[in-house]
Amino acid sequence: MKSKVTVVGAGNVGATAAQRLAEKELADVVLIDVIEGVPQGKSLDLAQAAPVEKHDSRLTGSNTYEASAGSDIVIITAGIPRKPGMSRDDLLATNRGIMRDVTRQVAKYSPETILIVVSNPLDAMCHVAMEESGFPKNRVIGMAGVLDSARFRAFIAEELKVSVENVHALVLGGHGDTMVPLPRFSTVAGVPITEMMTPERIDALITRTRSGGAEIVGLLKTGSAYYAPASGAVEMAESILKDKNKILPCAVYLEGEYGISGLFVGVPVKLGKNGVEQILELKLSSEEAKALSKSAASVKELLDAMKKMA
Ligand SMILES: NC(=O)c1ccc[n+]([C@@H]2O[C@H](COP(=O)([O-])OP(=O)(O)OC[C@H]3O[C@@H](n4cnc5c(N)ncnc54)[C@H](O)[C@@H]3O)[C@@H](O)[C@H]2O)c1
Repeated sequence: MKSKVTVVGAGNVGATAAQRLAEKELADVVLIDVIEGVPQGKSLDLAQAAPVEKHDSRLTGSNTYEASAGSDIVIITAGIPRKPGMSRDDLLATNRGIMRDVTRQVAKYSPETILIVVSNPLDAMCHVAMEESGFPKNRVIGMAGVLDSARFRAFIAEELKVSVENVHALVLGGHGDTMVPLPRFSTVAGVPITEMMTPERIDALITRTRSGGAEIVGLLKTGSAYYAPASGAVEMAESILKDKNKILPCAVYLEGEYGISGLFVGVPVKLGKNGVEQILELKLSSEEAKALSKSAASVKELLDAMKKMA
């Protein structure tokens, strides 16, 4: 039987994720959005590309959730970007409302599904999704680390003029300025980059990784990155659907791991058929551990701000 994945939010990230899921023939895809006609139109367009792209994934678009029933995975990309004059707290409140509504509907029709959260502010939205769904922590997973690590990998490959396939990298922490790229655990054909580049060059690539999202926003002027974010969410979905047990950096709910409790923070996890199969605890140096707890503190700040809201 074919798997089924619902993507909520048929905007840039959602529609691109739907395209990748279908073209990789990972699942039948249901695309949902509040804007009338958009999920229907985009899924019809994608379905008409199928004969040329050579896949048999079925695509359906809808403004309601009935069609999503029994999804194996739901990728949530619904949300609004910050508009001029809007504070971060305003955005947080608006997207919390959207996330609550979406999660409630998703959980009603797919009580056994696994949620991959993409909407920002990511770490806070993961909390809302877990609270609202009542799902266990292995079934609520945030996408950020795969994207941040992919950016770091792309920059490393470009710098060393090697294939991106040779490069592995690890970026932990919250999805924001305090993310924690780990050069010691970032390798080229198995060799840590600390043996291949000067500390100055590594620092430059880390800085570019940290502002990777802003660099693209600055270029696009309207909207933010979506090709790589969609790739990140689909890599996570693939590992779950195929029970591959890939180890990927994801935002997961920590209960004491890395000395952090009660927060969604990006750490390496094994993704398989049950969602999060295992959280890997790396032996961090004291400097790395300090950076991770600083990042966790900024996630907590965001969460505290959200809790203070009515
Ligand atoms: N985690 C990450 O690394 C990462 C990376 C990129 C983007 N994002 C976030 O992903 C989200 C989507 O980004 P995008 O570029 O696709 O934005 P977008 O504006 O192109 O698409 C968002 C879509 O959500 C829809 N939407 C709004 N409210 C909804 C609701 N209640 N139910 C269903 N759909 C609803 C909108 O109509 C829109 O089509 C944003 O919050 C963005 O900040 C996160």
